[in-house]
Amino acid sequence: MKIATLILPVIAISEASQVPITGTTPLRTEAAKKNIIIGSGAINPSYLNDPEFAAVLSREFNSLSPENEGKWTFLNPSKGLYNWTSLDRLVEFAENNDMVVKGHGLISGCCNPDYILNETDPTALRASLLDHFKAFMLRYDGSRVDRWDVVTEVIKTQGGGLDPNFFYRILGPGYIADAFRLARIASPKAKLFINENLVETLPGKRQELYDLVSGLVAEEVPIDGVALQMHITEVAPIPGVLTDMVKSYNALGLEVAIAEMDVHTLNTTAQTDIYAAVMNEALDANITDISFWGFTDKHLYTWIPGAKPLMFDEEYKPKGAYYATHAALKQCD
Ligand code: G3I
Repeated sequence: MKIATLILPVIAISEASQVPITGTTPLRTEAAKKNIIIGSGAINPSYLNDPEFAAVLSREFNSLSPENEGKWTFLNPSKGLYNWTSLDRLVEFAENNDMVVKGHGLISGCCNPDYILNETDPTALRASLLDHFKAFMLRYDGSRVDRWDVVTEVIKTQGGGLDPNFFYRILGPGYIADAFRLARIASPKAKLFINENLVETLPGKRQELYDLVSGLVAEEVPIDGVALQMHITEVAPIPGVLTDMVKSYNALGLEVAIAEMDVHTLNTTAQTDIYAAVMNEALDANITDISFWGFTDKHLYTWIPGAKPLMFDEEYKPKGAYYATHAALKQCD
């Protein structure tokens, strides 16, 4: 016992010394005081090979989600064949670091294997969906995977109707309700989300999502919440929009989460201000599940050449966005 207490602090200091300090408490420490999930998505399990990446992820966040490893073609490239190694590693990392996991990729317009894309019979496709959901969700049911994006980006990017993705073309618009019902069969207790982009910015698309979701609720489809991606380009959502969305979905008995926030701009001052504005409004509106699409600019995904959308730089030094997020968490009630 004495040996352990002598050795452990030495290990902690040597690990910590390789990672730039923030000079303040971790985000997850502030979040835990208020029962808030603060997470990072876009975690490719191979990034965990970098000890600094793993150290900052587990120090700052109490939730993670995979980037592409749960998308159909990467997880289940041919009938009956599942690549579990990567996702198992993520879930194990979460377990070892007292984190929860959000499942991402059950149904996505992108990254579907040919054996699915060649399916033209609706009944056979529904059966494949159920097999896939059962395999994926049951494997992690009862573990730290407590919530799932069941469908992602079902509305056209700029709004104006459902995206005519493969599932829509074969199953019709009812594929969304089908997906939630099948997910509930596969996992009776996990929270089930619809994940959508740009609704905080585009009023027409915002209304379309509300109409779709309120229709699902009216049909008693088992949906627990709306996950706003919150990928922001240059300009923050108009103040009040997020609050109004939370009120309207709460009135339907649903939760609102922020699932993939990042801010794509070359102006770091504007980026800090946007992180602050969104975090403050989200926390004031009692959003308790907030995740970012990654946390270090070493591994970023952007459509603005040169933009660095995340809260730590490539060398894991905290940026203004980190301190804005920290301050919002510390100040909220
Ligand atoms: O792995 C294949 C490789 O075999 C192939 O040769 C190559 C050719 O293009 O593609 C590789 O797959 C790419 C995959 O990422 C893995 O790297 C796909 O083309 C590429 O489209 C895919 O991009 C991902 C994108 O979703 C599309 O699914 C991004 O990494 C991922 O960050 C992004 O994440 C999405 C969320 O799932 C939903 N919300 C928006 C978010 C992006 O902002």
